[in-house]
Amino acid sequence: MTALEKIGGPPTRLAGTAPYDWEYLVQEDRAHRLIYTDPAIFEAEMTQIFGGTWTYLAHESEIPKVNDFITRRLGLRPLIIVRDGEGKIRALYNRCTHRGTTLCRFDKGNSKSFQCPYHGWNFLNTGRLRGVPWPDGYAGDMRNPKYNLAQVPRVESYRGFIFGTLNLDALPLNEHLGPIATIIDEWLDRNPGGQVVVCEANRFRFKANWKLAYDNSCDGYHVAYSHRSLLETENRFAGENAKGMAYYRNSPDTQPMYMRYTGHGNHYKDKRPNLEKRPGGLWALESAHPGMEHYEADFISRYGERAFSLLDLAGSEPVNINVFPNLSLLGNHIQVFEPVSVEETNAIWYGTMIVDDGSIGADGVRDINALRMRTQEGFPNFGEVDDIANFEQIQRGLMAIEDEWVYMHRGLGIPDRVKTNDDGTITAPATDEAFMREHFKEWKRLMQTRASLAVQREP
Ligand code: FES
Ligand SMILES: [Fe+2]
Repeated sequence: MTALEKIGGPPTRLAGTAPYDWEYLVQEDRAHRLIYTDPAIFEAEMTQIFGGTWTYLAHESEIPKVNDFITRRLGLRPLIIVRDGEGKIRALYNRCTHRGTTLCRFDKGNSKSFQCPYHGWNFLNTGRLRGVPWPDGYAGDMRNPKYNLAQVPRVESYRGFIFGTLNLDALPLNEHLGPIATIIDEWLDRNPGGQVVVCEANRFRFKANWKLAYDNSCDGYHVAYSHRSLLETENRFAGENAKGMAYYRNSPDTQPMYMRYTGHGNHYKDKRPNLEKRPGGLWALESAHPGMEHYEADFISRYGERAFSLLDLAGSEPVNINVFPNLSLLGNHIQVFEPVSVEETNAIWYGTMIVDDGSIGADGVRDINALRMRTQEGFPNFGEVDDIANFEQIQRGLMAIEDEWVYMHRGLGIPDRVKTNDDGTITAPATDEAFMREHFKEWKRLMQTRASLAVQREP
């Protein structure tokens, strides 16, 4: 009995006999409304994308001890992400093999086993069926592996970020991430010990397709208009000393920032060239927050010279790193997109804390994390709401059936504007839609590929 079960036949009712012409639906300069509105395309995405490529699941700091677990999703599949008794991280399907109910109803916890609330089947956190009530009612051998929980066959971490895929042919995670891994390294390495711990989250649900959020993740074109009230607030405080989002207020394409596409649907928006390389340089860019002058004065009185390098650790890193299809690192947040239906999506903004590696001391770490909590309250409350309003209004606009296309050709066809670098990455001005054209090539590739998908069970 093999522990690996290939998912046989067409992965969805679309594949193989696909009634869709993907080349028509996604062209170089435009995408068809159907890719955002058609329930059958959404269903295919839940296998071809969320399953067919590496998808972010959780962060290792959320399950630090053996037997810790959290419940998450891979596309629509409910999962239990668990660190088993031997420390191995697994992504178990949160679905009882008896009649299919969700097995674990908790968000998180610590347990060696999971007992199904319906008829009491009990599973070890390795996924193996441990026992069933009154087993003499079963004629066959209940130790048959088919009764063990399904699990994601490939689960790998990159510096604490846990990803999973059902695709047996997928590249190793490191290779798949490629150049975006270096940017993730830089995002982590500014913190003590090169690590962060994930905290609780701001949680949003919006009535629009998940891709509208990913299409926005590297969009520097919308900022001055969509986030106008936030910009005006910052400008009022900043005067000529533009900071944070204020870089977008005048001719953003000539500001020291850019977008770069790094392959496999991944890209980042880099505003770090604006940063002065001095202690306090990052803190100087931090958006306006109520009471920040008080915090700053307090840090200076208590930490003297060191105050500004400490304040930098509470400041938001000016880079948006987007890992297709569902992860963004924004400032100090870990943002995750969870599709709910073709026209409904969760956007979850996990805060992050720094940890004490001995270089700062427990008091300093506590003070920085308290301030970090303040700096991480800003954008989800004052910026994300602007974006979500647009996503919902796009979904509404796309109900105009005869008006079929959305355009993404900004920067296309202008000589020397979009540059392909020696390493194959692509760089363009901050407002260009090159990132979107490129991630749609990856989307289309995945939708067209008959991948070798499987689930695994303990033997
Ligand atoms: S559905 Fe889980 S024990 Fe019956
Ligand atoms: Fe935005």
